[in-house]
Amino acid sequence: MQTSMFRSDLFKGKRILVTGGGTGLGREMADEYARLGAEVYICGRRGAVVEETAAELSKANNAKVTGLACDIRVPDAVDDMMTRVFNEGPLDGLVNNAAGNFISRTKDLSPNAFNAIANIVFHGTFYVTLAAGKRWIAADHKANVISILTTWVWNGGPFTVPSAMSKAGINIMTKSLAAEWAPHGIRLNAIAPGPFPTKGAWERLNPGSIRAGTMGSQEDSSAQGNPMGRVGQMHELRNLACFLMSDGCDYLTGETIAIDGGAYLAGGGNFSALAKLGDADWENIRSMIKSANDKDRVARTV
Ligand code: HXC
Ligand code: NAP
Repeated sequence: MQTSMFRSDLFKGKRILVTGGGTGLGREMADEYARLGAEVYICGRRGAVVEETAAELSKANNAKVTGLACDIRVPDAVDDMMTRVFNEGPLDGLVNNAAGNFISRTKDLSPNAFNAIANIVFHGTFYVTLAAGKRWIAADHKANVISILTTWVWNGGPFTVPSAMSKAGINIMTKSLAAEWAPHGIRLNAIAPGPFPTKGAWERLNPGSIRAGTMGSQEDSSAQGNPMGRVGQMHELRNLACFLMSDGCDYLTGETIAIDGGAYLAGGGNFSALAKLGDADWENIRSMIKSANDKDRVARTV
């Protein structure tokens, strides 16, 4: 398997925060930044998860990786985290990766269900970006933001409407602040991944693949609908996240780059095919998602 395209000291001397870096894609990107010399911070609500990941990534990369318990929905908690991080030195990079999502017919959503997603993805991502941005501007410190979006920001997300609306908001935040903060030396770009199977996403978006034991394989429904006939491989995402974070593309800002095997161009890359499901299918899906959420909620309260 091909790994890095970059020299091993690419991020030496850089300090990068990855939100939601305890699991999934955030963990992958944090690992790659640490491997290429950065000092890395990761945050998430489950303190035990971020601490365990930080310890593993520190050891694997002989790097400094710090896990911080923080709920990005809470502005004061975000500010406290940023104060702690910046007291140790200014950040150079921020990856807005933390998110929540589940598939559901929109008619079945309550206002609470909408807020459960929008409070993380839309509000929380802004709170983190603002807390970092105002510190960078005050210190006249050059910096770089990457937000992890979806291709739904271009064509909509049927059955994932709160996520699609929130990610679209962060897409336009990326473009707006790219212009507003360019004079301060702050770049903002975004990545729109196609299917990169993770436990967190598949439990809530493709629970059928988990139950069938096909997650990530060519039989996974996400692979079958893809023009390349496969899901994404983590090193592909890691490389793009490093390219965008590096100083070598300093003139690149305000862009959202899809990495999806062409899925969005070929068929929209969203969940429109779920329109064929009936009431019993949706009840089944909801109960599978509920057991995953119940387990995670317990982990957040211990
Ligand atoms: C309809 C639902 C529902 C479902 C919950 N709700 N699940 N409604 N269908 N399947 C409703 C509940 O009834 C409740 O409303 C409200 O949502 C909140 O429910 P909780 O059970 O309290 O939810 P909570 O524990 O907050 O969990 C939801 C969550 C959680 C915030 C999304 O799962 C979470 O923290 N996830 C983080 C990890 C994650 O989601 N990762 C996947 C990211 S993947 P009422 O009115 O009853 O109170 C991604 C894109 C992937 O973003 C793209 C792939 C191509
Ligand atoms: P994941 O493993 O569930 O990652 C989500 C992370 O966000 C978790 O570590 C979670 O940790 C953290 N998080 C959620 N709410 C938070 C909050 N309020 N405060 C702080 N941290 C919070 O799922 P993933 O697949 O890696 O997703 C990562 C990103 O990629 C998301 O932005 C997602 O939308 C995007 N994405 C993924 C795919 C894919 O195929 N996997 C495709 C397109 C886009 P805690 O629960 O401990 O807080």
